[in-house]
Amino acid sequence: MNQHITLGEFIIDRQAHFSYSSGELSSLLNSIRLAAKVVNHEVNKAGLVDIIGDAEVENVQGEQQQKLDVFANKVFIQALVNREIVCGIASEEEDEFINIVGKDKSNNNKYIVLMDPLDGSSNIDVNVSVGTIFSIYRRVSPLGKPVTIEDFLQPGTQQIAAGYVIYGTSTMLVYTTGHGVNGFTLNPALGVFYLSHPDIHFPEIGKIYSVNEGNYQNFPKGIKKYIKFCQEEKDNRPYTSRYIGSLVSDFHRNMLKGGVYLYPNTTKYPNGKLRLLYECNPIALIAEQAGGRASNGKERIMEITPTELHQRVPFYVGNNCMVKTIEKMIRKYD
Ligand code: AHG
Ligand code: MN
Ligand code: MN
Repeated sequence: MNQHITLGEFIIDRQAHFSYSSGELSSLLNSIRLAAKVVNHEVNKAGLVDIIGDAEVENVQGEQQQKLDVFANKVFIQALVNREIVCGIASEEEDEFINIVGKDKSNNNKYIVLMDPLDGSSNIDVNVSVGTIFSIYRRVSPLGKPVTIEDFLQPGTQQIAAGYVIYGTSTMLVYTTGHGVNGFTLNPALGVFYLSHPDIHFPEIGKIYSVNEGNYQNFPKGIKKYIKFCQEEKDNRPYTSRYIGSLVSDFHRNMLKGGVYLYPNTTKYPNGKLRLLYECNPIALIAEQAGGRASNGKERIMEITPTELHQRVPFYVGNNCMVKTIEKMIRKYD
């Protein structure tokens, strides 16, 4: 374990990977690092103080927000706004995207951030891991003007960085800038992230499947077949079933141990439940950078052209061959 490399050092060290504005992206990543520590501190004491529970408001998707969602949303936005780098933010917890002007009121910042500030929020009040997911793009609208919806509706292939924070038994920050995936673990005593998981790759063979099987009756036929395939006693099966109900945690485990995560379309969620821009694209970039695959069952997640900010898609992500098998079964049966 490279105990002596801190996240701050690593970000600077890898700056050379960017042909343009490398210092700015480093600074942006550093603001995420800072916000992650603040949210971590709050998540860790969630059981102690009167911060858990519903905030008595619903977000744009009609789901009840928890107070920590609101808190994490504010902390990340504040951290990102403070540096003169980000021109626009879209968040799962905000109805509309936010335009950010510099201190001189100009619109000259270059980066767009999309985020799910608190993923797995229904797990908060039962002390189960939650996370934050983020995705970074260059703006496509001209400098000097407010950002437009086109800046946010870019396909995932245009991401220049993506990552997540997992507030688990340890707190980790995992990210990629398109040159592999690296994971950092927070030493809570020092408040410092150390490189603990350099160059993460999915293991060759995956043996875990993660899906909310309670929805089985409403799954497409190909997915029902795939679940039966996972349970069959043949070759290296049955696979192990593991489902936390927090995408970040389920994905993180599957990437380290080998497995696949499924959130298909169902009767309740005809387009799937997960959001393309805040959850699927960033996780897809990390998965591919770690040798995995991410699909909506028919096409590569990152090649989907988004049409709206809060768009949902069916999501299958994990070991390359497991996702390929899912795609094959969807083609065959649906
Ligand atoms: P969020 O807390 O940001 O709304 O995301 C919850 C998502 C995802 O993290 C998780 O995997 C999935 O919803 C769980 O959904 P079910 O409870 O329907 O299984
Ligand atoms: Mn989420
Ligand atoms: Mn969320």
